[in-house]
Amino acid sequence: MILGISGSPRKKATEYVLTEALRMLEERGFETEFFTVRGKQISPCQHCDYCLRHKKCRIEDDMQELYGMLGEARGIVMATPVYNGGVSAQIKAVMDRCRALVAADYDFFRGKVGMAIAVGGDRIGGQEFAIQQILTFYILNGIIPVSGGSFGANLGATFWSKDTLDGVKEDEEGFRSLRKTVKRFAEMLKMLEGV
Ligand SMILES: Cc1cc2nc3c(=O)[nH]c(=O)nc-3n(C[C@H](O)[C@H](O)[C@H](O)COP(=O)(O)O)c2cc1C
Repeated sequence: MILGISGSPRKKATEYVLTEALRMLEERGFETEFFTVRGKQISPCQHCDYCLRHKKCRIEDDMQELYGMLGEARGIVMATPVYNGGVSAQIKAVMDRCRALVAADYDFFRGKVGMAIAVGGDRIGGQEFAIQQILTFYILNGIIPVSGGSFGANLGATFWSKDTLDGVKEDEEGFRSLRKTVKRFAEMLKMLEGV
């Protein structure tokens, strides 16, 4: 299963492009699931170190549902709106709370495949840095990071929403970067299936 995680508190541009990414993956034969932080309670990590001692997070919130989904996922598509030139606080909380999974099993994420999507209101608003934050999370947890390659999708899929849903739908260049990234992501997943 491929898990898409939206880091936007709104049902707007980020959710839209993530849903499109999952649709493209289903067309390629993958089973997908969707999780959004919208309407959810996901606390930031408290660094209480409970997870190091007890191998689970002590915070009983909606992250518990996501923990289960992450366990099932072979591939992860993290999508974030760009907030102040980087990822949203919501998706950062998701990343930080994953510490509990790694505390329980050091290799929890190892060998999964990851791609990233960033949606900014500005054409050049920090999309690449936001993607790099997600790719860093992937790298340090052993998730294989995949981009769409040079000539358009260097680090992953980057969108310019002009702060609206209609704006992101018009972003042809963004969708080109998404198609390129989805293609390579799917190819990597298929390659690893044969290993
Ligand atoms: C707190 C906040 C900070 C933002 N900072 C940036 C920014 O640094 N760069 C940018 O391009 N857009 C910025 N935006 C705009 C959003 O990235 C943009 O509207 C995006 O489409 C939001 O995603 P959504 O439509 O899924 O909610 C910011 C929005 C908010 C609410």
